[in-house]
Amino acid sequence: MGPDLDAAAATLNGLRPFPVAITTVSGGRTNGLISLSAGGGSILPEAPRVTISITKYNFSHDLVRESGVFALHLLGASDELLPRSLRTIMTLGGSSGRDGDKLAGLDWTPGVTGSPVLADALSYVEGRVVGVLDNEENSIFLADVVAAERLHGGRRLDIGTAWKALPAEWTETYDREHLHQTNAARRARGLPELTDH
Ligand SMILES: Cc1cc2nc3c(=O)[nH]c(=O)nc-3n(C[C@H](O)[C@H](O)[C@H](O)COP(=O)(O)O)c2cc1C
Repeated sequence: MGPDLDAAAATLNGLRPFPVAITTVSGGRTNGLISLSAGGGSILPEAPRVTISITKYNFSHDLVRESGVFALHLLGASDELLPRSLRTIMTLGGSSGRDGDKLAGLDWTPGVTGSPVLADALSYVEGRVVGVLDNEENSIFLADVVAAERLHGGRRLDIGTAWKALPAEWTETYDREHLHQTNAARRARGLPELTDH
């Protein structure tokens, strides 16, 4: 018998409430995605590390795997930043870089790792990967923080606030398209695929 899935969800869901925009570059090709699974990776404030988890289905996975560098941005919830944060989520989280240059639609400059630093983010860190946990459907990257900067003031944007403020049309499309990613992960874990009803 497996674990109690309701209890597992009650324990694990929402542990990381802040969506982040992760950008990267490899061989001159820039890309980025939205993630809800990033975290701190060190108990030493003077030697910070960051963890990110990217599914192998996503183009950003291959670029971070190749180059070992990324920038991770927090998004802002102030009146000034919220519309720009929503635009960042829709630009990076709504389609794959395999289908086009998503960074072309955003204001950015290269950071010390070459990863795009997004001008509309609240703050960011840049990371150089020091360890990779290579799993069936994803990789978990641990990186040294090699640069960090606050760009704006105000509160961090949490996913509940973001999801309510995003256009319903966008969130519905996201949920529908996400099925492909879910099924890729299910195949990798030997689970039956889900159908769209
Ligand atoms: C709120 C939110 C959270 C997400 N969390 C993750 C995540 O933790 N890991 C991941 O690989 N993808 C995550 N995604 C999905 C990617 O952002 C999405 O599939 C993106 O289009 C991938 O782009 P790429 O193929 O250009 O890398 C999330 C998306 C959203 C909107």
